[in-house]
Amino acid sequence: MRTVATFAEVRALGSGIVGFVPTMGYLHEGHLSLVAAARRECDTVTVSLFVNPLQFGPGEDLDSYPRDFGRDRLLVERAGADVLFAPSVEEMYPSAPLTTVTVAGVTAGMEGARRPGHFDGVATVVAKLFAGIEPDRSYFGRKDAQQLAMVRRMAADLSFPTRIVGEPIVREPDGLSLSSRNIYLDDAQRTAARSISRGLFAAAEAVTAGERSGRELERIVASSVRAEPGIELDYAVLADRDTAEPLGCLDRPAFLAVAAAAGATRLLDNVHIDRIEGEWVPDVGVRLDTRSILYKET
Ligand code: PAF
Repeated sequence: MRTVATFAEVRALGSGIVGFVPTMGYLHEGHLSLVAAARRECDTVTVSLFVNPLQFGPGEDLDSYPRDFGRDRLLVERAGADVLFAPSVEEMYPSAPLTTVTVAGVTAGMEGARRPGHFDGVATVVAKLFAGIEPDRSYFGRKDAQQLAMVRRMAADLSFPTRIVGEPIVREPDGLSLSSRNIYLDDAQRTAARSISRGLFAAAEAVTAGERSGRELERIVASSVRAEPGIELDYAVLADRDTAEPLGCLDRPAFLAVAAAAGATRLLDNVHIDRIEGEWVPDVGVRLDTRSILYKET
């Protein structure tokens, strides 16, 4: 695997079908499942590692965001990537950008409403990565469902010739969805955080049993999280998978999204719900057999 820091080097190393996995590092099995999918489907696999200052708001955790370059490089190499693109802030933003990308509509609610500027920062860096790397296929986790909807829309609107591939959520054995920020959780917060996936799994069962009301599905998740004292629910919303608009009723592909705070840590999770052969099928993702590599020596 080659580690490079400029777009010119990345492009020179890409041949055949180029698969791209954007990350902010501090990798876990969710990221590695994206690399594995790219490895199966592409000739060259490029992973980017860049903690993007543009997507952090004032008072957010840009400075303390977990970083361990040596660990990430080892994990990406073991996962079979060909190229690790780890640019400096100067390579990505030689000067403060006067051109930024805003995707309207899809970003209006949920995370967009709570974190002003966040999605503009994500859309801008992802657009720069698409333009600089020129991938044929780009892999994103479904855990950030609103981000995925936004990236799909941006790629379509701006005619980026890359196919956006969404991959299932990866969970700890106890159900908690993987996030680099999980390492901030203490034991009590970690126990409380399980109420999120418990609620989502209960809602998924309700869908399988025939429940179609957005309000009822949201209530099932919300009541699970509210029953736990160490965690504060922000929202539980059934949303259109493509537009991220709230849905009163499950009548199109959707995701049931939750955001909650355990102390200062914001946790996001969701269940994707698709119509397959006439049935509504919830996808809660995959569970690891053992505790995540986030807590292990590499
Ligand atoms: O999902 C993330 O890790 C980031 O938002 C991304 C897509 C790498 C852009 O910085």
